[in-house]
Amino acid sequence: MGKMQLFGAVAVMLAFYSAHAKVYFREEFLDGDAWESRWVNSKHKSDYGVLKLTAGNFYGDAEKDKGLQTSQDARFYATSARFEPFSNEGKPVVIQFTVKHEQKIDCGGGYVKVFPSDLDQTDMHGDSQYYIMFGPDICGYSTKKVHVIFNYKGKNHLIKKEIKCKDDELTHLYTLILNPDQTYIVKIDNEKVESGSLEEDWDFLPSKKIKDPEAKKPEDWDDRAKIDDADDTKPEDWDKPENIPDPDAKKPDDWDEDMDGEWEPPMIPNPEYKGEWKPKQIDNPNYKGPWVHPEIDNPEYSADSTIYKFDSVSVLGLDLWQVKSGTIFDNFLITDDVKEAEDIGNETWGVTKEPEKKMKQEQDDLKRKEEEEKNKEQGTEADDDDDEDDDDDEGDEDLDEEPKEEVDDSLSETEEEALDPKDEL
Ligand SMILES: *[C@@H]1O[C@H](CO)[C@@H](O)[C@H](O)[C@H]1NC(C)=O
Repeated sequence: MGKMQLFGAVAVMLAFYSAHAKVYFREEFLDGDAWESRWVNSKHKSDYGVLKLTAGNFYGDAEKDKGLQTSQDARFYATSARFEPFSNEGKPVVIQFTVKHEQKIDCGGGYVKVFPSDLDQTDMHGDSQYYIMFGPDICGYSTKKVHVIFNYKGKNHLIKKEIKCKDDELTHLYTLILNPDQTYIVKIDNEKVESGSLEEDWDFLPSKKIKDPEAKKPEDWDDRAKIDDADDTKPEDWDKPENIPDPDAKKPDDWDEDMDGEWEPPMIPNPEYKGEWKPKQIDNPNYKGPWVHPEIDNPEYSADSTIYKFDSVSVLGLDLWQVKSGTIFDNFLITDDVKEAEDIGNETWGVTKEPEKKMKQEQDDLKRKEEEEKNKEQGTEADDDDDEDDDDDEGDEDLDEEPKEEVDDSLSETEEEALDPKDEL
């Protein structure tokens, strides 16, 4: 690139980004193989899966949609890219990227990890300490969630809320916004799906209040709302036997007292039996209400307005496991500007999502037609007389895809148990 061109590119970028926006990291894989010089594969294990650059089987733009795709089944993947270290103190930080599970993922991570500057990238692995882990995770039917994990004082804390992730085959945009007022927002496809405060939605700090260990329920605390009415007495005629001899029973004619003993009528429930007598219940005049254990400030608690703060953010990594490979990661962005991130999301994912969907739709339609043709040929061979409507089946639904899917699903369920790593927890 010549000096003038370089100058031009910089000028365009300066014009493009608003005055205060800081983009710490942006990777869209738009320069061929050059990404290989920016990304460092971990050598912690010898058999990590290979990530390759591709737009996949369907896309909105053959070049712009190129991203890193997991290419080998049942592998760990570990690669990362470094940028100038920054602190998010006093500023928002946005972490954003796209994920496309075009393989119909059964079990595997789709998240990123953001690391401090002291990470040894060539040794990055499941236990490497990170600042933030964010993004979708799918395993079978039960796990389909967005992780938001923050490291606080050396410990990883998972969000307490359940955020559902996308599980279709299209590209989706995941965004995490972390604000200096200790609030956060999670967006999928540029729409808010969750938000709240760090203190409420994670267990970073011990609880503010605890039950006063000194306090005890007083002996004479009366917490019975109702009591027996002392003036109520059992009616004279209350007690009746529960069962009585059946008045309608008759001694059988052939009853032989010598042989059978004295005849007794069978017992039946007494219709006049009223059960056990209980006095009427009245309001307890001494009722004090339920005793509430008084709370005191927890001496272990101390507020921390810097939970959100990470001093030296410097590496973004993919460190994950996949059973069925094929996921494409793209459009990585770390910035301090929420609006800028939304703009960039709109200009990348927002522009290519519709054409991508259309291309996939066309491929699916074509596949279905081919299946139908094949089925018809087989049907014709089996039964020569039954081929009257050869030409207009396009409108039929794709019933013939179902059995194949069932096979895949049962496979993923067995693999899920054996292979779910959960290394980061
Ligand atoms: C991004 O696109 C959405 C949907 O078209 C729109 O509502 C939103 O205003 C856009 N955001 C920005 C920052 O332009």
